[in-house]
Amino acid sequence: MCGIVGILGARPVAGELVEALKRLEYRGYDSAGVATLESGRLIRRRAQGKLRNLEILLSEAPLKGLIGIGHTRWATHGRPNETNAHPHANGSVAVVHNGIIENFRELREGLRARGHNFQTETDSEVVAHLVADEMQTGKGPVAAVAAALPQLRGAFALAFLFDGQDDLLIGARRGSPLAVGWGEGEQQGEMYLGSDALALAPFTSEIAYLEEGDWVVLTRGGAEFHDASGAIVQRARVRSQASAFLVDKGEHRHFMAKEIHEQPEVVGRTLAHYLDMSAGKVRLPFDLPFDANALSRITLTACGTAYYAGLVARYWFERFARISVDIDVASEFRYREAPLPERGLAIVVSQSGETADTLASLRYAKDNGQHCLAVVNVPTSTIARESSVVAPTLAGPEIGVASTKAFTCQLAVLACLAIAFGRARGVLDEKEEARLVGDLIALPGLMAKALLEEPAIEQVAHGLAHARSALYLGRGVSFPLALEGALKLKEISYIHAEGYAAGELKHGPIALIDEDMPVIVIAPKDATIEKTVSNMQEVAARGGRIVLVGDAAAREEAAVALAGAIDMAPMAPDFTPIVYAVPAQLIAYHAAVFMGKDVDQPRNLAKSVTVE
Ligand code: F6R
Repeated sequence: MCGIVGILGARPVAGELVEALKRLEYRGYDSAGVATLESGRLIRRRAQGKLRNLEILLSEAPLKGLIGIGHTRWATHGRPNETNAHPHANGSVAVVHNGIIENFRELREGLRARGHNFQTETDSEVVAHLVADEMQTGKGPVAAVAAALPQLRGAFALAFLFDGQDDLLIGARRGSPLAVGWGEGEQQGEMYLGSDALALAPFTSEIAYLEEGDWVVLTRGGAEFHDASGAIVQRARVRSQASAFLVDKGEHRHFMAKEIHEQPEVVGRTLAHYLDMSAGKVRLPFDLPFDANALSRITLTACGTAYYAGLVARYWFERFARISVDIDVASEFRYREAPLPERGLAIVVSQSGETADTLASLRYAKDNGQHCLAVVNVPTSTIARESSVVAPTLAGPEIGVASTKAFTCQLAVLACLAIAFGRARGVLDEKEEARLVGDLIALPGLMAKALLEEPAIEQVAHGLAHARSALYLGRGVSFPLALEGALKLKEISYIHAEGYAAGELKHGPIALIDEDMPVIVIAPKDATIEKTVSNMQEVAARGGRIVLVGDAAAREEAAVALAGAIDMAPMAPDFTPIVYAVPAQLIAYHAAVFMGKDVDQPRNLAKSVTVE
């Protein structure tokens, strides 16, 4: 979703604004822009498409201002063209916005009636006019923003720059994250605003996050924070770890490839955080503020790939801890008005920790008396801050829009939780725990082995690139992975793909099978293999092109002609999705690369979905 930066500097800032925006590219965007003050006057440069276009514009018509704001826009209201690109400005104020202003129509009508002219189709432009309108009544910039903010409905982060004010930036947060940074070393005295600490990492690691409803006044003298009531408040300055993470692609062509290859390491790091490997036990790195033995039910919510991690975890919680799990996509759960039980635990899963629907589910669960636990990758995120227990995934920043390493780390954490609950509830004994922990410890090595299959996976992927549509099948814990494999393929290659529980095939989708339909079967040798083999025979009998992702035993069992096979090492059956995720991701990656698609920033997608 949209990215925001602001710099109050000592040197021309346009180049640095673009550099910071590049670090927000991963969020997904379709246009970009900056505004600075040139001889005290507001000037903008905006361009449709990639930041490269904005850079070209800036090289043709450079900006020299020492203060500025910048934005990458992911279109919600109005087409992704230059006119609708941020910053939006009128004569006196420029604004960049992330989120949605829900009451923009009624505000725009009122402002039009008072003589304001609107240039764009966006909801965001109304904010610039609203603040300008307040200034026309004689208020200064700070008072005007303070008067405008309560009139806005919706979720937003905002940054303002004012004509004639070369020592003032204002930021505001309601629903969407915003961070303030203090310049260090050579940048001492400079101040920054950014959608996240990653954007500010080249300039500073000294960060404070705005709390919900806060707004902040930045001058070169520092930051003055206000809460929603306008009262001056203090916000803790923390040292961000973001600069410790190298946000580059290393030896890889794409962030997605780098993140797929990092998985043995980050899954290993995450497991090491949750396991006492020598004792063969799970040791949660936090205290549970509830008795796992007394839990009546788990309610799991998340979106997209994180939801599929939850679907896998349902098998684990039910199998290892004998606790029933209600799971739903967060965007629907919030509208079900689901009755939640006493002594219930709500688990939300999110890479970004900012997904609007997941956050809304968390709040609903809290309001309904649930214990709340968040499995998140960004520890400073809103979801992390609003949950009573945070179970961190240690995947590091995930830049590719398609989630890969965050998914497998989510699975690793959820597996540890399920085992810990199983022990607490007396379902697993010490020996069973040690066996499962042993299986977990083997995972990074098995993932590394799976990565060695990349040349064969690439061949399979090239075969898919000509298909119009593909089916993914799996049973048991492999079913959610079939859903995830199909999601990966469609989101980055734009090939239509569907995941199905293998047993559902004959209840409808079998009608789609013909010789043009690739069917990717995710089938490790486990207790369900015989039944999945029957489904493969049904596909083969109708001429479908089967690609088997499985081990030698599964291949032997299959006894059908295969259009392709991806050779997996034999492994214990419970945690296969964590390893089989690797070929599922690589199939999608290589199909998309072969087809020349923008793998790291697929069309229409955003990394952090902060609108509903
Ligand atoms: C797919 C993908 C999305 C996210 C979903 C939730 O590759 O990345 O489906 O999983 O938008 O995002 P988070 O985990 O940030 O809540």
